[in-house]
Amino acid sequence: MYPLKRSRRLRTSESIRRLVRETALSADDLLVPLFVVEGHDIREEIASMPGYYRLSLDNLVKQVKELWKMGLRSVLLFVKVPEELKDNTGKEALNDHGLMQRAVKEVKNACPDMLVMTDVALDPYSSLGHDGIVANGQILNDETSEILAEMSVSHAQAGADFVAPSDMMDGRIKVIREALEDDELINTGIMAYSAKYASAFYGPFRDALDSAPVSKQDVPSDKKTYQMDSSNRLEAIKEAKLDIEEGADIIMVKPGLPYLDIVRDLRNEVNVPIAVYQVSGEYAMLKAAAERGWIDHDQAVLEQLLAIKRAGANIIVSYFAKDLVRILG
Ligand code: PBG
Repeated sequence: MYPLKRSRRLRTSESIRRLVRETALSADDLLVPLFVVEGHDIREEIASMPGYYRLSLDNLVKQVKELWKMGLRSVLLFVKVPEELKDNTGKEALNDHGLMQRAVKEVKNACPDMLVMTDVALDPYSSLGHDGIVANGQILNDETSEILAEMSVSHAQAGADFVAPSDMMDGRIKVIREALEDDELINTGIMAYSAKYASAFYGPFRDALDSAPVSKQDVPSDKKTYQMDSSNRLEAIKEAKLDIEEGADIIMVKPGLPYLDIVRDLRNEVNVPIAVYQVSGEYAMLKAAAERGWIDHDQAVLEQLLAIKRAGANIIVSYFAKDLVRILG
């Protein structure tokens, strides 16, 4: 009579496995990050992100049309700012004709229904590589938030559907929400990077945008005074609840795979959509191992994205978006 309960019955064929499968991925889950540069006909591969490119506006438009055809309907834009336009206050971020603002307009012109989210933080614009203004070895909080609010209004006026503040300044969601309301941009959403950890996995992204903190006296060499400590769980819940109270429509956990416990904690605590950012270092690790033949690329991509969704993600920001659509067939 041993055993009466055989769990393997539900695994005997692909058909039964499909029938009892608890988590399914689709293109609708994905938000595609894109890197934009000045210039014409530029498609530069990022050395530490094989198969991922910085695109000039003309190629950005082509890329977005291709994504749309594949069923990918949301993009998150990042810009690489020319060195000569960077300064400590990131004032180029407020230029209504800046690269980000033009990128939003181009994408919306080419593909009006594509959901466009913009990165809001000073680091791509900062000569010191920080997400805020640096003074006396500190990253100024409230002064930075004011700039982020103006930046958000500028992006929204250019046509962004959502702004995505990735800076981790305290109280910035409130200031941004109020600034948007004051300008009657009532339908512009906010996706808050609520639990963003000070992580080693952002390295390739900082290569992509040339945005790493500079090494200079009186400039912190890392982002640990604003991004979260990897050891903390309860603090993620506190951060998420604050952002929701302040007006965030979507919250985010970042990075992805190393922080899935946080995703599950938050899924049990809050009732807004949760985005998870599978970051550049996660992409680079998988690509590097696959290039050496040490893991199966497609199976590993699928498994990682499934794990993120199973943990409780409603939205996944991933450099593997196109790969996933191909893999799902
Ligand atoms: C900075 C920002 C970072 C990423 C997105 N926005 C890096 C950082 O905090 O230094 C990382 C994304 C990735 O690694 O893919 N505002």
